[in-house]
Amino acid sequence: MEKNNNIFVGLDIGTTKVCAIVAEAKNDSLEIIGVGTSGSAGLKNGVVVNIENTVESITKAVEDAELMAGYQIQEASVGIAGSHIRGFSSRGIVAVKSREVTQQDIDRVISAAKTMSIPMDHEVIHVIPQGFTVDDQDDIKNPIGMSGLRLEASVHIVTASSIAAQNIVKCANKAGIDVSEIVLEQIASSEAVLTEDEKELGVALIDIGGGTTDVAIFYMGNIVHTFVIPKGGQSVTSDVSKGTTTIPQEAEKIKIKFGIAKESLAGKDEIIEIPGFGGRPPRPISRQLLGNIIEQRMAEIFTWIRKNIEKNGLESKILSGYVITGGAALIDGSAELAVEIFNAPVRIGYPLNVGGLTDVISSPIYSTGVGLVKYAYNNKSKNILNKKSFSSKNGDNPFVIIKNWFSDLIEYFF
Ligand SMILES: Nc1ncnc2c1ncn2[C@@H]1O[C@H](COP(=O)(O)OP(=O)(O)OP(=O)(O)O)[C@@H](O)[C@H]1O
Ligand SMILES: [Mg+2]
Repeated sequence: MEKNNNIFVGLDIGTTKVCAIVAEAKNDSLEIIGVGTSGSAGLKNGVVVNIENTVESITKAVEDAELMAGYQIQEASVGIAGSHIRGFSSRGIVAVKSREVTQQDIDRVISAAKTMSIPMDHEVIHVIPQGFTVDDQDDIKNPIGMSGLRLEASVHIVTASSIAAQNIVKCANKAGIDVSEIVLEQIASSEAVLTEDEKELGVALIDIGGGTTDVAIFYMGNIVHTFVIPKGGQSVTSDVSKGTTTIPQEAEKIKIKFGIAKESLAGKDEIIEIPGFGGRPPRPISRQLLGNIIEQRMAEIFTWIRKNIEKNGLESKILSGYVITGGAALIDGSAELAVEIFNAPVRIGYPLNVGGLTDVISSPIYSTGVGLVKYAYNNKSKNILNKKSFSSKNGDNPFVIIKNWFSDLIEYFF
């Protein structure tokens, strides 16, 4: 089947589920036309640890999405997460060659900002310009054409383990999908759930998935900080399993059915029944106890986030508050708990501003998948100009392609 340039595909390879989303661009908007989801068993804390299982999950999710969309998927934008991800802020300074800033000056200053030490086994996946200074005038978004002698750029750089990135590409390729771009998962989720006003005023996006909690902070419309915490909903389930002496599969069900992120949301006498295992009869437990177990873990995750934000001096920039998304945001009371810990407004983030199958994707678990599609769509013109996908079909070596492709990312953001 011929590739349709109006169709965009996001492939979210998560720790608990893989999801493929197909969208069609129609009259300046995106319509979701296919969604496929499959349980994931090949990742740990956001990183591929079993190729075969991951390929199987991708194949199933892609097949379902293809069937729904009536479109054969050839390539996709794919997310990356995990505690190997590093986010750095950096600055570059160059002399303006012809006294008027040109694209070449911008390319040079971004390159200069990138010459900071990047771990040996890491690759740059995003170089995000935050603002430019021409001589003494700062906070310039687009300096092209301005007169000056000195150009400075501040950028946020995101790197990922080369091996982790290669494994993602390998799994997608083995499932027959070329990777058009690799996108940090919280950058993708931000595209789906944040408004432009929030990004301008200052906002923290927190995606609490199964294996990782991914954070991105925006200020004056730009990403200024990113980090990943290797804990998420699976840690909550594991705590419930240990704390109530239940097998993990039952603990997961109890968490989803009765879970609360604040102990005080349960009545004093509220009792829930949990199934016994190994032939034992069901047991009653207090819902407050369940809430206590969940609250401790969720509070730990939010407190880590608060400390990281404070360490980076960013708390005063988060004026429009915190947006929590990802599956674990669905635990009742998670927003209330976050309000207490961050002492700021909090809302739950659902995918926004897409048409088509909105009822199917209207859940925080789809924020990354929808965001990947939106990211691909918003960068469409650059995609066409800069077309390089990771493909095993034509014998490409993904490692070499990743290297070349990463170095082209600078152009990608202008
Ligand atoms: N209704 C719900 N109530 C409570 N928790 C839920 C609910 N639905 C999903 N979850 C939890 O959300 C987590 C999965 O979230 P999500 O689908 O965003 O993760 P993922 O993308 O697979 O993982 P990751 O992004 O960490 O790699 C699981 O731990 C699951 O128990
Ligand atoms: Mg996820």
